[in-house]
Amino acid sequence: MKLHKSILKWYDINKRDLPWRKTKNPYNIWISEIILQQTRMEQGIYYYNRFISKFPNLKSLATSEEKEVLLLWQGLGYYSRARNLHHTAKHIFYELDSKFPESYHGLIKLKGIGDYTASAISSICFEKKNPVLDGNVFRIISRIFEIKDPIDVNNSRKVFREKASELMPSNRYGDYNQGLMDFGSMVCKPKNPSCSSCMISKKCIAFKNEMVDLLPVKANKIKIKTLYFEYLVVNNNDHLLIERIDEGLWKNLYQFPVNVSSTKKNKREITKFFKDKYNLESLNLKMINSEYIQHKLSHILIKSTFWFTTEKIDTKEGQFTTILEDYPMSKLMHKFTEKYRSIFVSSEVKMVN
Ligand code: ADE
Repeated sequence: MKLHKSILKWYDINKRDLPWRKTKNPYNIWISEIILQQTRMEQGIYYYNRFISKFPNLKSLATSEEKEVLLLWQGLGYYSRARNLHHTAKHIFYELDSKFPESYHGLIKLKGIGDYTASAISSICFEKKNPVLDGNVFRIISRIFEIKDPIDVNNSRKVFREKASELMPSNRYGDYNQGLMDFGSMVCKPKNPSCSSCMISKKCIAFKNEMVDLLPVKANKIKIKTLYFEYLVVNNNDHLLIERIDEGLWKNLYQFPVNVSSTKKNKREITKFFKDKYNLESLNLKMINSEYIQHKLSHILIKSTFWFTTEKIDTKEGQFTTILEDYPMSKLMHKFTEKYRSIFVSSEVKMVN
């Protein structure tokens, strides 16, 4: 049996019952595919359902404020996905008369939609013959054909793309693509794959050669860089100073004022930094957490310390608030506020849960 026939047959019996599989509406499929990037399935389902309840259609998302979208995205990480979703929703609603492009080439022009998402939407919603190349597909192909080219190198992506195109069936492109992804998550898993019950193990060269655990090959081990974040928690009469982040990974989220450095700073240096920033005569800082609050991003380990002061600060760079929960914030900020709220606010200041 051809590989695509086996995958479709397997999918018809084993496909997961996922909320976005009840529809082919490109809005829903788009939202689900963006959420599922870099997100575990269980968490993805939770966020998808919440997102669709709040923004059930293109118009509701396009006419919302970005801040509302970021508030809903809190905890998912990779916030550019949320900013791009909002941007592209407005573009389709206002510029494209609410019509989603149907082709790969039309879709890939949209901000936040890359090769993977354009293939997924065009095949699932519009039955276009475009192979999806996600981690599952790389893994399945590298094992079945024992391809040892590293999957994270641009040159070898071409090898996988050609193979993936060759393997496509002549219909049911959306089902086939989703079948491969389900098969990769449920059978041909990264660790402990279920080879003994796999219907294509007979054809799998890596299985025959006992190479399954060694594939796929990755060339670049990610180098993790450590950064030190020194946060200033300013409480002026139970109003807390927060700033909007204007660039980078956390653009348009909010946080306490911060000093970022690749080397550990001492108290004197931190005091000087914030005294200069706010033009202060004096600044009395107390360390809140004696052990770092750590937060891992894909390439960065953040070690953070929070410093408390009640010094009167007059600034146009940030704003004072009593309700932190009105502002979208990073998981790192949540980790801190959840643990230490009682230390730096009185009961009148509401904190994020
Ligand atoms: N992972 C991301 N998108 C998926 C989909 N449509 N089906 C299965 N797994 C996925």
